[in-house]
Amino acid sequence: MAPKTRPRAQLSAAATSKAPPKSLIERICLPMGILTLAAISSPVSQATLAPVFGAIPSAVNHQQAIIATSLLGFLLHYLPPKPRPGSVGQYLAAISLFVPVVQMHIYPYSGILGPIAGPSLLGLLSCHTIIVPATYAAAEAMEALDLSSRVGPYVAPVLSTCLGVLYLVSFEGQAAYFLPSLNLLSQIFTPVKTQLLVGSTFAYLFPSKLSLLALPALAHTFLVNPHFDAARNIDILNNQLAQHNWTLLDRRWSNTGYISILESTDMHYRVMRCDHSLLGGEWLLTNQRREEEGWLVDEPIYSVFEMLEAVRLIEDETKPSDAEAQALIVGLGIGTAPKAFFAHGINTTVIELDPAVHDFAKSYFNLPSNHTAVIRDAVSWADETVAEGSLKYDYIIHDVFTGGAEPLSLFTESFLRNLRSLLRPNGAIALNYAGDVNFPLTAKVLNTIDLVFNGQCRIFRDTPPSSETPDDKAAVNDDFTNIIIFCSNSPGQITFRRPTKADFLGSKSREHYMLPDARLEIPFPLQKLPTRRQRVRTEALQQGEEQQWAAQQADSAIKHWYVMRKVLPDAVWELW
Ligand SMILES: *[C@@H]1O[C@H](CO)[C@@H](O)[C@H](O)[C@H]1NC(C)=O
Ligand SMILES: *[C@@H]1O[C@H](CO)[C@@H](O)[C@H](O)[C@H]1NC(C)=O
Ligand SMILES: *[C@@H]1O[C@H](CO)[C@@H](O)[C@H](O)[C@H]1NC(C)=O
Repeated sequence: MAPKTRPRAQLSAAATSKAPPKSLIERICLPMGILTLAAISSPVSQATLAPVFGAIPSAVNHQQAIIATSLLGFLLHYLPPKPRPGSVGQYLAAISLFVPVVQMHIYPYSGILGPIAGPSLLGLLSCHTIIVPATYAAAEAMEALDLSSRVGPYVAPVLSTCLGVLYLVSFEGQAAYFLPSLNLLSQIFTPVKTQLLVGSTFAYLFPSKLSLLALPALAHTFLVNPHFDAARNIDILNNQLAQHNWTLLDRRWSNTGYISILESTDMHYRVMRCDHSLLGGEWLLTNQRREEEGWLVDEPIYSVFEMLEAVRLIEDETKPSDAEAQALIVGLGIGTAPKAFFAHGINTTVIELDPAVHDFAKSYFNLPSNHTAVIRDAVSWADETVAEGSLKYDYIIHDVFTGGAEPLSLFTESFLRNLRSLLRPNGAIALNYAGDVNFPLTAKVLNTIDLVFNGQCRIFRDTPPSSETPDDKAAVNDDFTNIIIFCSNSPGQITFRRPTKADFLGSKSREHYMLPDARLEIPFPLQKLPTRRQRVRTEALQQGEEQQWAAQQADSAIKHWYVMRKVLPDAVWELW
């Protein structure tokens, strides 16, 4: 134990024998503080990468990498050479504060790096460059706990390494959940601001002139980084986007990711973006389109939403009129199908997880306010509503794509059975699943739907297979598509009535796309699956099983990344 007379100024050399005596609490708090900051920088790093690479590609192997690099940090501490105690920690502030600068300068290469090398490189630079020195400094700080006098010189390093890595990894898991909800509460904690907060706290824990190295990085982030403040730095972004004929109208960090509204100034269309995917968009009704092409309304950029509306066209003599009908829409997006349902006078309830999506659909895509909106997780809502047993629907539309992949918890047998029990006896449901037709996961999901609805389903794709469009052979030779599934609650073949003019609501694209095209029908059950995957086909997706499919979801998200890079130019994704 060090003598009591040491001056306080040496606090920075935290865990050394020269340090002044500190209470046990203090000695525990320093390593915990360091590890907490390191843990926070991980989900923050992922949040800043998600708009450029997608949330799922940014998270691939992330936890394993964190375990590896934190072990490395502890190991380095126990191996020679031993730098002056406390000196490694003094670099942490500068390293963390430079992260946003480094990220901004690497984003422009995202197209070359791709969705695998890109997040790996940036994850290394923005997260593991902090974790290694931070765990090193934490190991050093833990020496003050003097574990070796309690458990012996050989067990002590193992014990502190295990405790440290365990704490970091579990806190990282927690932070990944609570940080998005902080973003939700206010714009104060944008990920870039959180990065600065982490850096400044390191500067406080390890006071040193070295922290001054970060001043240029701070100036850069305050003045040039368009993501420092969600509201304030939009102009910086728009000056750059203007060179590509795009403009950003609004943006918000929310609970499903980074949501923004972008508009093409030369092609006159507007999209809603969530991380590295588009939730939808509309061609705007310009004077030219009105006068020269006879448009009457804004037209959706994706026909799939209009195909979902065909659930209204399923033939059944006992069906109620639109004025009497009740509809449920799970997953709002820009609101194409809900708007159509309102326009037909159907009493419609919308369930959407993300409040920003709901707000932006109202502000930028003319979603009327006079509907019932339930802003929460659909799984628990369905459990409660089924238990109450009072609400029943004639139509359900289920369209829940988010952030690069389908949320599988909304395709489990139990959730789909809940939806079925919310249907009236002659009700019908339309679901959209975006994925690769050849993936076992896709087969599993389609099969789950088919089982829940006793095979009373028909399945369509929204575009022909890519082999039939020879000009489209580029990077993605796969078969990523929207798959639309119509199922009816009662037995019998599903047929669609011919739509009338009133069904089109003045939209030219509805005339073309709303009625599902028999040529795009997928024969079901799927024929071409290899036999070893038979089991996959015959069992429904169960709640709690979603994690087993993480690897396939990652493959799917990577394919989707390439699809998105063809829809909008690299620069628009990079200048998120
Ligand atoms: C932007 O729009 C202008 C005018 O329509 C066009 O000449 C120019 O090529 C466009 N620039 C890009 C990068 O697409
Ligand atoms: C419309 O739907 C809401 C929510 O399901 C329900 O409370 C309300 O009674 C319905 N209104 C009519 C006129 O059916
Ligand atoms: C909701 O508002 C839209 C447009 O403002 C209107 O056309 C529609 O009739 C309204 N629906 C109801 C149920 O009030």
